[in-house]
Amino acid sequence: DPKKVKPQTVAPFRPIPVGSADALTLPTGYRSQVLAPWGEVFTADGREIGFNHDYVGYFPIDMLEGGQSSTEALLTINHEYVNAMYVGGETKERTPAQIKAEMQAMGVSVVRVKKDGGRWTIVPDPRNRRIDALTDIELTGPVRGTAAVKGATMVRGTVGNCSGGQTPWGTLLTCEENVDGYTKSWAGSGYEAMHQGWVTEIDPFDPAWTPKKRTGMGRFRHENVAVTVAKDGRVVGYMGDDMQDACVYKFVSRGKYDPANRAANRDLLTDGDLYVANFGNGTWVLLDYDKTKGLKDAKAADGKPLFTSQADVLADARASALAVGGTPVDRPEDIEIHPRTGEVYVALTNNSKHGNYFGQIIRFREDGDDWAAQKFLWEVFAVGGPQSGFASPDNLVFDPYGNLWMVTDNSDLATNPIKAFHGNNAMFFFATEGPDAGRAHRFAIGPVDAEMTGPVWSPDGKTLFLSIQHPGEDSESLDKPRSTFAAKSGTNVPRPTLVAIEGFPGWKA
Ligand code: FEO
Ligand code: CA
Ligand code: CA
Ligand code: CA
Repeated sequence: DPKKVKPQTVAPFRPIPVGSADALTLPTGYRSQVLAPWGEVFTADGREIGFNHDYVGYFPIDMLEGGQSSTEALLTINHEYVNAMYVGGETKERTPAQIKAEMQAMGVSVVRVKKDGGRWTIVPDPRNRRIDALTDIELTGPVRGTAAVKGATMVRGTVGNCSGGQTPWGTLLTCEENVDGYTKSWAGSGYEAMHQGWVTEIDPFDPAWTPKKRTGMGRFRHENVAVTVAKDGRVVGYMGDDMQDACVYKFVSRGKYDPANRAANRDLLTDGDLYVANFGNGTWVLLDYDKTKGLKDAKAADGKPLFTSQADVLADARASALAVGGTPVDRPEDIEIHPRTGEVYVALTNNSKHGNYFGQIIRFREDGDDWAAQKFLWEVFAVGGPQSGFASPDNLVFDPYGNLWMVTDNSDLATNPIKAFHGNNAMFFFATEGPDAGRAHRFAIGPVDAEMTGPVWSPDGKTLFLSIQHPGEDSESLDKPRSTFAAKSGTNVPRPTLVAIEGFPGWKA
């Protein structure tokens, strides 16, 4: 029970100074290993780990029997997008082979891993598999079969797999974020943009269960879902739409979570209510075509109704949200729920439109500490900039003490004021209470051009899994890569990879 864990607000490491080395730099006493690099064959039928790792889910191998193994797990790794120079090898020629290579390098890897003698390895398992941009996926919820998705009930693939979430019943929610560019780059492949941009649920324990897109959770640039169970048993998911001046959402399931009925739980996210946050008055505004004032009257520029059904409202959740008072914010990236206080933390990464180059982390508390509440109170937790030392907060993860760990994503270092103080992307520790609350302590620095993503802990707190995404992304040619991070021996091609970091003391109650 996380509420019984005593707060421990001192960083368990000596913070490191800003850096720009082509390496994963850690404090003294910590070590990392490359665990699941792009291209590694890990299934019986020869499939490879995909490209540009993002969110990582940790599913203890004994989870369905009530266990919490910290030495054996099914990991899920999101693969957000590809760099054509590295994947397939052709940047200009859009050949069918190139497009197929790209489609197969995205999506999700389900990988069994094991820790032995202090080292993690991938181990064979019939559940090791790839879900990619070609996998059959079922549409569920109010938009299934409607005109918004051209009548589809089954669709092809999942793309733009950014961050995500894990459900209490042991499934992955992978979030489809940047999905629009493929209509052009994969022209001729049958790619359908309206079939993407959803939350997709995958059961790592059950490869026979067809993955499901949850249309009730809306279509937008889905960064993540932070999942919890409200007092009355309904399942709540907090979600961000990662775009300048876009909104924060909350989904509340119709049905209730039953720890003894996994089969029923796997249907819970089919039906529910979608809300958008109004930060002006601290309320959740329901997005319901029949019940919410303003949706039936909303008009497009040409005077036609913007929405004619709930399917329309969900399929363009951003327009719906803005039509009924959802507050546009500075690019909501990851959202996490504090394990002891229940407060919800949101990384607002930056918004150059408003001159907010450095971003901030905010937090809010639901009315009556009930995640299904209609009202909330919010405040700023930490502000990026030269004084705090961080900029562009992206993924968040809590440890059981309630300390917050955050990774940055500064992709425009050369052209904005971040360059003056930040160095390579980094991971920071923050206490959330006590005199040091909100102060950033640098724990890790990523290699050149890379962003660190997807941090997740083993249940005992001794291993931190972290993705190293897009090392050497700004290289102009394979001959002269800007990074050689995790290159195979004898080559200098950098590889996105999952790393395992050891050296943490682990949790003490
Ligand atoms: Fe894929 Fe918003 O980060
Ligand atoms: Ca992100
Ligand atoms: Ca997270
Ligand atoms: Ca980002």
